[in-house]
Amino acid sequence: MRIIVVDNYEEMSKKAAMMIASQIMLKPDSILGLATGDTPLGMYKELILLYNKNEVDFKEVTTFNLDEYYGLNRENPQSYYSYMMANLFNSININMENINVPRGMAKDVKAVCSDYEDKIKQASGIDMQVLGIGGNGHIGFNEPDVNFEAETHLVNLNVQTIEANSRFFDSIEDVPVKAISMGIKTIMNSKKILLLANGIGKAEAIAKAINGKISPKVPASIIQLHNDVTIILDKEAASLL
Ligand code: GLP
Repeated sequence: MRIIVVDNYEEMSKKAAMMIASQIMLKPDSILGLATGDTPLGMYKELILLYNKNEVDFKEVTTFNLDEYYGLNRENPQSYYSYMMANLFNSININMENINVPRGMAKDVKAVCSDYEDKIKQASGIDMQVLGIGGNGHIGFNEPDVNFEAETHLVNLNVQTIEANSRFFDSIEDVPVKAISMGIKTIMNSKKILLLANGIGKAEAIAKAINGKISPKVPASIIQLHNDVTIILDKEAASLL
């Protein structure tokens, strides 16, 4: 596990974007696992800058997003699909057919989840998975629980997550209470993991994930068992290490 501590959010974002750009340079048809939330926004901005300078080419890249709210249309501005379009995909030369975000409006959720898993397998797995971390230690939408959920599945979001994510909605009642998320095995099968965290609000979750007991109560702690993890933290997120 490589832990890189930088001064601030901007530096974290630049380093993370450089890592993704290098991955694409080494393997132009890379399969990327992508995250949403506030944390990777700066990284996506940096990637767009690199693309505009012709330093990275997304033509052959395929992406799989970690998760999506259940019950939101893709067109809903709060959906993670809309987030990805607005913050990355609309500004780069990715082939729209190579973008994968779980279908949040699916009638047959089980089929959607198993199709998502199959598609990742058919693509020969994820080369580099970007992760943020919830204040409660969640990755994707794998909430603290008594078990690790292996594959892509429907999740009941917990109160802390609903409250944390209500900042993106008009009111807390508008926040979906369920989501579709890659499972822990899906994430752990990625060849490389790149976890980003910034701000004091993430310090406790980061300390537990890196130095704590491996437990489904802190889902991110499982990455201690992965053999190619890079964690980029600002000083605040690293302050309890
Ligand atoms: C969200 C997402 C995660 C994200 C995390 C942290 O609920 N499902 O993929 O990493 O919570 O979000 P943020 O980066 O906004 O702190």
